[in-house]
This record gives sequence, structure tokens and C-alpha cells, in this order.
Amino acid sequence: MPKITFYGHACFCVEHNGLNILFDPFISGNDAAKDIDINTIPADFILISHGHQDHVLDVEAIARRTGAKIISGFEVINWFAKKGLEDHHPMNHGGAFEFDFGTVKLVNAVHSSSLPDGSYGGNPAGFVISLTDGPTFYYSGDTALTYDMKLIGEQYNIDFAFLCIGDNFTMGIDDAVRAAEFTGAYKIIGMHYDTFPPIKIDHDDAKRIFSNAGRNLLLLEIGETIEL
Ligand code: NI
Ligand code: MN
Repeated sequence: MPKITFYGHACFCVEHNGLNILFDPFISGNDAAKDIDINTIPADFILISHGHQDHVLDVEAIARRTGAKIISGFEVINWFAKKGLEDHHPMNHGGAFEFDFGTVKLVNAVHSSSLPDGSYGGNPAGFVISLTDGPTFYYSGDTALTYDMKLIGEQYNIDFAFLCIGDNFTMGIDDAVRAAEFTGAYKIIGMHYDTFPPIKIDHDDAKRIFSNAGRNLLLLEIGETIEL
């Protein structure tokens, strides 16, 4: 069973078979995560959904310290490669690749993607990850609800999903419930909420709305680790 640690906003570490897979690190710029020291975060792989600052801010520092391999879309990887991060793996939409921890498929996200200096970030992505001898999960990245999510539900048995739920920049709660239905996920870990004023949510309302749809929404405390 993988262990999942929440580091705030859309940043999670999934530990499986001794490998740490970190998603979208944005910690040092997040007031709510001020008790997390980025120098203590383990990473063997860093997956980056798109180029926005609230998803890439701490990639360079963590990758340099840990030597983690960065995995993302082609343009985001090129941007980090120019900064001298040598262990990287570019992908693009629809493509899958088998890594040591499992297979990653880059899937569509409806959003935008520019890097912090304004460079073109390619198209934003989500990931479907099939852990070796473990569960399969979906990490939505920042996205609107899209019918493309139905393909994920048709092609995979999704054991759990990380879904953005904060509204304004991404799906809100009601659309995230439909995303859960489209992908077939019953266990949902919420992300991309509360960090900024326009994405503050009522936790009890959010959990109730998912529960009414027969789904379980988990909202982790920053620094909390669970097994799924
Ligand atoms: Ni974004
Ligand atoms: Mn974002």
C-alpha cells in the first residue's frame, strides 16, 4: 500500500516500494506550508503537471538536493534542462512510459501552462499512474472537468484520484464529483483549495457533496501521511 504525504496545495509525495514520487512541489511560497522544510522532503522522481509557479516553485531545489528524475511535458522539461537539471524525462500527451515505480501516462488537462519567467510551457497535463504491484491512480493536475476523463474510466480501474476542487482556477466541487464519476474513482484526495482567497472552500460541505454522490473525499492536513 502506498503512503501518501500532503505538502500543501497540489503537492503530494507517494511512497511505493521504497521509491518517493513527488508531485508539483510548491511549499516555500505557501504560507499554509510554512512548517514544512523542503530540505526534508524525499524524492526519487518529481512529476510536474504544468509550468505555473504554484506547481514548480521548489522543483529545482528539491531535484538538486535529491538528484530526483523530473518527469513532465516536453516544454517544461526543456526549461528545467536549461537550468542544468540533467536527470529528466520528457513526455507528451497520450504517451506512457514504464519507470522503476510503475507506468506513467500523460493525459489531457484543460488549463494553461507558462513557466514563471513567461516561457511557453506546452499543454498542461494530468497523470495516470499504475504502480508496480500496486494500485492505479489519477492525478488531475489543474484542469476543468472534461469528457476526456471518461476515457480514463474506460481504460483503467482507478483505485483513487487526486482531484483539484478549489474552483476559480480549476474544477470546483460539483465538477470534481463528475470527474470522479467519469474516472470511476471512489476515493478522492482533494487538492488545489484553500491556498489563496479565491479557492477557499468549506470542508464539511465539500465532503458532504461527495458523500451524497457515494464518494469519499479526503482532505489531508499539511504534513499528514496516510496509506491508501
Ligand atoms: Ni495552474
Ligand atoms: Mn495551480
